[in-house]
Amino acid sequence: MNIIKLRVEHLNALYNLENECFLDNAWEKEMLRNEILKKNNINLGLIENKTLIGYLIALNLGEEIEILKIGVDSQCRNRGVAKRLITSFLDSAKKNGIQKVFLEVSEDNISAKKLYEYFGFKKIYNRKDYYKNGLSADICVLEI
Ligand SMILES: CC(C)(COP(=O)(O)OP(=O)(O)OC[C@H]1O[C@@H](n2cnc3c(N)ncnc32)[C@H](O)[C@@H]1OP(=O)(O)O)[C@@H](O)C(=O)NCCC(=O)NCCS
Repeated sequence: MNIIKLRVEHLNALYNLENECFLDNAWEKEMLRNEILKKNNINLGLIENKTLIGYLIALNLGEEIEILKIGVDSQCRNRGVAKRLITSFLDSAKKNGIQKVFLEVSEDNISAKKLYEYFGFKKIYNRKDYYKNGLSADICVLEI
């Protein structure tokens, strides 16, 4: 397993993984491309046997950063891939002088909520009716 910086050459694999992870809420390929091309973002992939099995996309806002996406191949879940991505992401964010990390998570996404709690994210707000399916979003923050 090794962690890499996402580049345009990963776009097709990233797009496939995004669809697998987010189904109806998956981003279009162009949106993924736009984020990959942003120089200040922290965009990481995890490669195993030459295949992209996990990714994290974060929009850098200077002192703050927002995790826009994190996803892991469904065949490779529950063995620490997301934890490795977030650990590496937090290292880079600290080195970049970032102080706060924000993210949003659907209220019913138990695995993601457990993952964020593990890293110390705290819920600061609940945005009602946020998703197409009527579920609300928890807005969470971590000071680093
Ligand atoms: C959420 C997601 C990224 C987790 O990836 P993962 O690689 O399976 O997570 P990890 O193996 O690193 O798990 C880390 C921690 O998360 C929690 N966790 C992960 N899967 C879990 C599950 N099915 N049930 C409960 N807790 C779970 C545990 O606390 C786990 O710690 P542990 O290994 O000490 O038990 C993955 O399930 C996924 O891609 N889901 C679809 C996309 C998505 O919902 N993204 C998040 C949007 S906010």
